[in-house]
Amino acid sequence: MLAILEANRGRYVNGQYIADKLSITRSAVWKHIKQLRTEGYLIDSSPNKGYRLSAENDILTEQSILPYLEGAAKNCRIEARKSLPSTNTELKKLAACGEPEGKVLIANEQTAGRGRMGRSFYSPADSGIYMSVLLRPQLSAEKSVLLTTLAAVSAAKAIEQVCAVPVGIKWVNDLYCNDKKIAGILTEGGINLENGLLEYAVVGIGVNVSTADFPEEIKNTAGSVSAGGKQVSRPYLAAQILNRLFADLPKLESKAFLHEYKARSVVLGREIFVIKNGMQIPAVAEDIDENAALLVRYADGRTEKLSSYDISIRHIGQKG
Ligand code: BTN
Repeated sequence: MLAILEANRGRYVNGQYIADKLSITRSAVWKHIKQLRTEGYLIDSSPNKGYRLSAENDILTEQSILPYLEGAAKNCRIEARKSLPSTNTELKKLAACGEPEGKVLIANEQTAGRGRMGRSFYSPADSGIYMSVLLRPQLSAEKSVLLTTLAAVSAAKAIEQVCAVPVGIKWVNDLYCNDKKIAGILTEGGINLENGLLEYAVVGIGVNVSTADFPEEIKNTAGSVSAGGKQVSRPYLAAQILNRLFADLPKLESKAFLHEYKARSVVLGREIFVIKNGMQIPAVAEDIDENAALLVRYADGRTEKLSSYDISIRHIGQKG
């Protein structure tokens, strides 16, 4: 039922057409509609025209995302949940039990959403996309950062296309729009100790879609993709992120996405702080190499390649 309404989102679908499609009676169609409404779906009904899923309907479900999937992403197996502690944590458990590549876990809310460096990721209900994708790439563990960078480019392109806002990337995993962090990527994996390759990778993507009222500690640095006033459908945006990600994945081996990553960088050429052991060391971000390491130059002329440290951009004062 939902799949039929979703496929015709914004348009009326005749009640008899739905009944015939599902081989049920008209009164069973009506009961289904009532049930969906109690679950929160906004469904208009008209005696002559039938039923219509309101264009404003924004519930994240398998059925609301599937109609928008294209290309390789069509093979994704989507599972949507109302609330989870963390989609990454949950998907890692499934991965360890042998779940095949292509499983996508998406939640309307996370109660313990996680970011890099042990930070939390603010994940309130009804306003963001909190999604984890299970991949099983032939990739050595030390190159797994490339997955994060590829996913950052894919998500940036999808957000830019859907939300009509410019999206930059702050090395290594944060997406920025108008100097505010609007999304983050957290890639976690299991390693096969015999060959040093990734057994699995869970790519977690969190997007602040219409999130407001951020907690005190991030309220000056966090923002939302719909801050410009554009209404954004979460199911549509989630699907476009998956479409881009799965279309871009074949570029992982050749690293053909790295020039796009560098072109979107909001740190290259900028004065930054490298944060080491709680200390802020002034430096300039000079380059990003073929393994996505950040080349920085310190005030005394020394250079260093960073592969995992945290940085913040000087003069904006943002931190992660
Ligand atoms: C960061 O800010 O450092 C990365 C944030 C990543 C957040 C996403 S939301 C879906 C997935 N589940 C999590 O707990 N984290 C990632």
